[in-house]
Amino acid sequence: MARGKAKEEGGWKKFIWNSEKKEFLGRTGGSWFKILLFYLIFYGCLAGIFIGTIQVLLLTISEFKPTYQDRVAPPGLTQVPQIQKTEISFHPTKPESYEPYVLNIVRFLEKYKDSAQKDDMIFEDCGSVPSDYKDRGAYDSDPGERKVCRFKLEWLGNCSGINDESFGYKEGKPCVIIKLNRILGFKPKPPKNVTMESLQMVKYSPYVLPVQCTGKRDEDKDKVGNIEYFGLANYPGFPLQYYPYYGKLLQPKYLQPLLAVQFTNLTMDTEVRVECRAYGENIGYSEKDRFQGRFDVKIEVKS
Ligand SMILES: *[C@@H]1O[C@H](CO)[C@@H](O)[C@H](O)[C@H]1NC(C)=O
Ligand SMILES: *[C@@H]1O[C@H](CO)[C@@H](O)[C@H](O)[C@H]1NC(C)=O
Ligand SMILES: *[C@@H]1O[C@H](CO)[C@@H](O)[C@H](O)[C@H]1NC(C)=O
Repeated sequence: MARGKAKEEGGWKKFIWNSEKKEFLGRTGGSWFKILLFYLIFYGCLAGIFIGTIQVLLLTISEFKPTYQDRVAPPGLTQVPQIQKTEISFHPTKPESYEPYVLNIVRFLEKYKDSAQKDDMIFEDCGSVPSDYKDRGAYDSDPGERKVCRFKLEWLGNCSGINDESFGYKEGKPCVIIKLNRILGFKPKPPKNVTMESLQMVKYSPYVLPVQCTGKRDEDKDKVGNIEYFGLANYPGFPLQYYPYYGKLLQPKYLQPLLAVQFTNLTMDTEVRVECRAYGENIGYSEKDRFQGRFDVKIEVKS
């Protein structure tokens, strides 16, 4: 046993350094050199291919516009005040009950104030009636930053906060502000004339993407009451001259066109479900995404 063990130990030592054959771990110096050289070149080439591929890929990517954008979902339609559970519930006589909604709207409208749109190097007037898309050239760095259309707060009328700091909440006539989420390069296409009739729009322009709010369920339809729309030139929708959006780098101060809706005769002490929808050829709706092209909100005015 003892002898065997000694032999074993001798075997190990011999394996690590075999002085007869001048082998280290079973290989001669030359052999080790060749094998190390092989792996050096092998991994060198692998790293080269890896870096090369990434470089080529980066060359084809633009900082300004995604290369592949064909599977982008249609834009979401969202509302301000943005609230938990999308439920607005308040007492017109108790300011503290609607204060969170009002603050949320005030904060959102901050960048739409005249004072925030003064810089003529950034902002321009795009007319006070709806007009066609405003193309501002290719989606790359030259000629640098693009101008942004001004959006005047006063267009939101009774929902602008200019005359009524409570946005209608103190009278039980709550305002909700609607925006279409921005998507780089997206040009919303209004529906063709056929569907316009079924919408019963108060005011129609081919340069407006219409939005309509109604009661969600049948029982809500007669509880919603009258709905006032406030937008550019009082068209109920989003004027096209604000599109397309050129992205964060070229239009860092971009302002989405807004639409305000005011519910002026809601049935009191009842939860009314309201659904607002944008209508367009490239506006889609999804069962899974509750905000794609539409949203719904529960409103309850308590007496
Ligand atoms: C805006 O509010 C004023 C004062 O409450 C009211 O007289 C007017 O009819 C409102 N305008 C609209 C379009 O609802
Ligand atoms: C608009 O309506 C007219 C008559 O109903 C129809 O002939 C025409 O094709 C429609 N235009 C579009 C773009 O759908
Ligand atoms: C408000 O709605 C009630 C019914 O819910 C109706 O009787 C009343 O005439 C409406 N008022 C206005 C100003 O439309």
